[in-house]
Amino acid sequence: MTILVLGAGGQVGASLRWRALARGQGIIGLNRSELDITDAAAVRHAIADLRPEIVINCAAYTAVDKAEDEPELAMAINGSGAGHVAHACALAAVPLIHLSTDYVFDGTGQGAYREDDPTAPTSVYGVTKLAGEKAVFDAWGKHIILRTAWVFGAMGGNFVKTMLRLAASGQSDLKVVDDQVGGPTPADAIADACLDIAAHVAQADIIPWGTYHFGGAPTVSWFGFAQAILAHYPDMKIAPCTTEAFPRPAPRPANSVLDCARIRAAFGIAQPDWAPYLAQLLRDLGETVSKDGKGIS
Ligand SMILES: NC(=O)c1ccc[n+]([C@@H]2O[C@H](COP(=O)([O-])OP(=O)(O)OC[C@H]3O[C@@H](n4cnc5c(N)ncnc54)[C@H](OP(=O)(O)O)[C@@H]3O)[C@@H](O)[C@H]2O)c1
Repeated sequence: MTILVLGAGGQVGASLRWRALARGQGIIGLNRSELDITDAAAVRHAIADLRPEIVINCAAYTAVDKAEDEPELAMAINGSGAGHVAHACALAAVPLIHLSTDYVFDGTGQGAYREDDPTAPTSVYGVTKLAGEKAVFDAWGKHIILRTAWVFGAMGGNFVKTMLRLAASGQSDLKVVDDQVGGPTPADAIADACLDIAAHVAQADIIPWGTYHFGGAPTVSWFGFAQAILAHYPDMKIAPCTTEAFPRPAPRPANSVLDCARIRAAFGIAQPDWAPYLAQLLRDLGETVSKDGKGIS
């Protein structure tokens, strides 16, 4: 089976390439310079020419705060761009796995969010990602929309690397938000979930197309996650703070917890425990971290 990954240079895209190779699955990864999903004709031609058996769209505008100042660009990528990919998949009759986010919810709900809970994004990023979901839904029935949250991995920027960079730069007194909770989700685990779904799509007669949640467990606050990351840095003192004390341009959901029962029932995919993935990432990054933080991007 040949899988085509769009946005292959990002966190999840890179993990997909790595995990597919490790599993002996054929994969083609196109990064932004090779295929820009805002170019509808280019997307159409790429999918028609490469004739993959499934497309996984990881391409996205993910700079949550910057998106507040660049709503048109964020919408062109996350909204219209996702639609271009879905239209091209429909024309070529190729199933699509499209990644989305907990930011489609406002985060005020109690308990874990289910797939059919009402969406109500409060940020430009969330609005544009929800527009992308709708564009995919309208364009092509053979889709899986996979909503995830709090992604971390070896490639690209993420919270783990930010914490390590601050620790390595000698900063000793740090406040981290303790009133936002979620499930940190390893990029490698998302990649494996996508590859498991792709294998299921290739083999099964009946595919339960639709929207699924996939997030890591156990639930933790950003402060709790920071404590786990910095457990090996005893000199680094961190303290909890409120969202109010740490204002950002884009509002964050207070509750990013995703109920992952549906993906387990449909595909047998369990929530990953983020702790062993974090331990492995810290081991992998440990060798590249120097005192001034060089080596962490
Ligand atoms: N990161 C998270 O915490 C998180 C949480 C929930 C959901 N998600 C979703 O998960 C998916 C993957 O996220 P990620 O963390 O892997 O994001 P990422 O690391 O930012 O990767 C996104 C990739 O998309 C590329 N891209 C941007 N604009 C593009 C365009 N017009 N055409 C083609 N490629 C383009 C980016 O390239 P450049 O770097 O060159 O711009 C980047 O390589 C996204 O759908 C995201 O919304 C992420």
